[in-house]
Amino acid sequence: MSINISIVKDYDEMSRRAARIIADAIRNKPNLVLGLATGSTPVGCYQELIRMHKEEGLDFSRVITFNLDEYIRLPPTHPQSYRYFMDENLFRHVNIKIENTYVPDGLSADLQRTCKEFEELIKRAGGIDLQLLGIGANGHIAFNEPGSSFDFRTMVVNLSERTIKDNARFFKSIEEVPRQALSMGMGTIMEVRKIILLASGVGKAEAAAKSVEGPITTDVPASILQRHPNCIFILDEEAASKLVRKAR
Ligand code: PGA
Repeated sequence: MSINISIVKDYDEMSRRAARIIADAIRNKPNLVLGLATGSTPVGCYQELIRMHKEEGLDFSRVITFNLDEYIRLPPTHPQSYRYFMDENLFRHVNIKIENTYVPDGLSADLQRTCKEFEELIKRAGGIDLQLLGIGANGHIAFNEPGSSFDFRTMVVNLSERTIKDNARFFKSIEEVPRQALSMGMGTIMEVRKIILLASGVGKAEAAAKSVEGPITTDVPASILQRHPNCIFILDEEAASKLVRKAR
């Protein structure tokens, strides 16, 4: 088992390639269970999916989605909440039924129960068919920071000081950055049927190389993807620049 690598020229080509895989999966299975990610990386892919919906009739009416993570105690109306991000960047531009879009509920009064229910919902949907992922510069996936167990399920996580600082640029001040989030665990992510990980830019090159070619270690959470039976990394040339073995 190893990670399939697809190296493309730049961010736009990465986005189009990912969108095409997702669109083909939806056409093959109109009630696809699709795992989604937030952050700057997937925005271009979502824009391409919106274009395909508008110009080519790509139909989201039966698609079910699950997002990887959400901040705790940030209302869905807050521009930095991941629910708001998904609504703005994808959901309100396509014909998806909003009741079929699941983002962990960071406002829940019983977060442990919410985590369990999220796992239940994924199971009841039949499992995630296709999961889109980004990667952090330190190799993190969702909010699974280095050191997280590969067995974790959806859980409450404390954001690391590094992540709080990194994310402060999106908030008015560092005090406003939530200290906790809900996140699928690597155990949840490893059960999906197919994974597409996107990375663009030189800032991701080291994380990509370590994940693909380095030892499998909790120090680099994405390295566990080497054990996934159906995982593709779509990297632009900069993100692929530190790979030893290159393929196209
Ligand atoms: P980015 O974040 O897409 O904004 O680079 C990815 C991540 O940290 O998982």
